[in-house]
Amino acid sequence: MSIRIVQVTDPHLYRDPDGVLAGVSTWKTFRAVLGRIERQHGDFDHLILTGDLAQDGELETYLMLREALGDWIERCRIIPGNHDDPANLRKAFPDLFPQNGAPLTFALSTGDWKIIGLDSHLPGETKGRLDADQLQWLRDQLRMDPSIRTLLFVHHPPIAIRVDWLDKIGLDGAADLVDVIEASPQIKVICAGHVHQEFAGRIGTVAVYTTPSTCVQFGARTEKSFDTRAAGYRTFRLDDGCHTEVHRLDE
Ligand SMILES: [Fe+2]
Repeated sequence: MSIRIVQVTDPHLYRDPDGVLAGVSTWKTFRAVLGRIERQHGDFDHLILTGDLAQDGELETYLMLREALGDWIERCRIIPGNHDDPANLRKAFPDLFPQNGAPLTFALSTGDWKIIGLDSHLPGETKGRLDADQLQWLRDQLRMDPSIRTLLFVHHPPIAIRVDWLDKIGLDGAADLVDVIEASPQIKVICAGHVHQEFAGRIGTVAVYTTPSTCVQFGARTEKSFDTRAAGYRTFRLDDGCHTEVHRLDE
């Protein structure tokens, strides 16, 4: 039986429902993405939100997000991005996060796959980092299920996407994560957000993807630029392989 995952990333929501980021009403495009998911992929097993959920990091914004997710919340898992406020995320989603100050990670065992979310939020920084404790937590999770295929989510991509200004604000110390990946053949796929564009690369035999934001798209030029492509999201079908696809609002 296959497992159906939907990934939604970088909605950059505001407490103001009319808030605009680089000319895009982020609530409007986010709600349009949710509507599309409901119509076309509403039977998903898990919806993974991979960070930069709130542009302003405010509790009120996260509570509005919770409301927008409605009864999907039981099927949701969240990891933070650089824009998020971990304390406010904990308050708005007490059922999803540990309340003891631990990183906002998750691990889901679901049929023949394990899905792990990492917390690369680094306070006050745009770039991300995974500290030694979290890398050890990841190693422990992998050791628990050494033969179960694993899909990893992290906000900051662990490899360069060949866009200079974004690669400068990527995952600091990514080599440590790459070491864990290379020592863990059960990891099949890694998927990130942060860069507001679709990208596909590899770490050895492991597929690495990034996913369009539900709002503004960044350009693929070396300097900061925007792209006019439509907002989107990604789906995964996991069985004896991983089949993934990006969907855009204008399709
Ligand atoms: Fe973002």
